[in-house]
Amino acid sequence: MKILITGGKGQLGTDLTLFLKDKGFQVYSFSSSEMDISNLDLSYKITKEIMPDVIINCAAYTAVDECEKNINKAFLINTIGAKNISIISNEINAKLFHISTDYVFNGEKDSPYTEYDKPDPISIYGKSKYYGEVMVKEHNERFFILRVSGVYGKYGKNFIKTIINLAREKDELKVVNDQFVTPTSTIEICKQIHILLPTTYFGLYHATCEGSCTWYEFTKYIFKNLNIKTKVIPCSTEEFPRPAKRPKNSVLENFNLKLIGFNAFSQWQEAVKIFLKSF
Ligand SMILES: NC(=O)c1ccc[n+]([C@@H]2O[C@H](COP(=O)([O-])OP(=O)(O)OC[C@H]3O[C@@H](n4cnc5c(N)ncnc54)[C@H](OP(=O)(O)O)[C@@H]3O)[C@@H](O)[C@H]2O)c1
Repeated sequence: MKILITGGKGQLGTDLTLFLKDKGFQVYSFSSSEMDISNLDLSYKITKEIMPDVIINCAAYTAVDECEKNINKAFLINTIGAKNISIISNEINAKLFHISTDYVFNGEKDSPYTEYDKPDPISIYGKSKYYGEVMVKEHNERFFILRVSGVYGKYGKNFIKTIINLAREKDELKVVNDQFVTPTSTIEICKQIHILLPTTYFGLYHATCEGSCTWYEFTKYIFKNLNIKTKVIPCSTEEFPRPAKRPKNSVLENFNLKLIGFNAFSQWQEAVKIFLKSF
């Protein structure tokens, strides 16, 4: 099976490339400079030369705060880029995996979101990703949309690396304690994609680790595991104003994966522990 990965040098794209190569697949992985998904002709040309059986779109403009001022760029990559990849995979009859986000929701629900809850994004990033999903659905029938959240991995920037670096510099840290998330490791997402890969269970899936925590609780857990003594002080979102609004509740229930009996995700604490050991 030939697999083409876009955004192949990103946090998820890098791990997915390594993971699938290791499983014996022929993987063709492209960075943003090699294959710009907002360029339909170029993306089409590259894809046509390879004729992959599967395309995995990990490419996105993920700088959530920057998206608020670079609105055109956000929609060009996250919406039009997704549309381009969807059109191309449909034309060559390749299965499409498209990665989306918990930020499609407004965060006002007081329990985990399922795939049957109505999206209502509150940031430009969230809107551009939501309309990316809409484009994928409009232009393709053989798609898997995986909504992931709180992603961390060995490559690229993420919360775990940032908070460890801050702990090196400071004796105490204030961390938001009123936003709920589910930290999800790239490796857990790779395993889930690997399971879905040979199937035709197309559709929309929430794809995150099990359980939830606040960013404060997440930090405490990381520090406990690494024996970091930096004091962690809980604070509210209002104390940390940022250009883009974040949903207060970002917790996703893997409802559809559980319905079809394919949910492979571990508890978030287990996945974090494994990551920290290898880190
Ligand atoms: N990180 C999270 O917590 C999180 C949460 C929810 C959902 N997600 C979703 O998960 C997916 C993977 O995210 P990630 O954490 O791996 O993010 P990432 O590390 O920022 O990776 C995204 C990659 O996309 C590339 N890219 C940007 N514009 C592109 C373009 N026009 N054409 C092709 N590639 C382009 C970037 O390349 P450059 O660096 O060269 O620009 C980067 O390598 C994304 O769809 C994201 O929306 C992430």
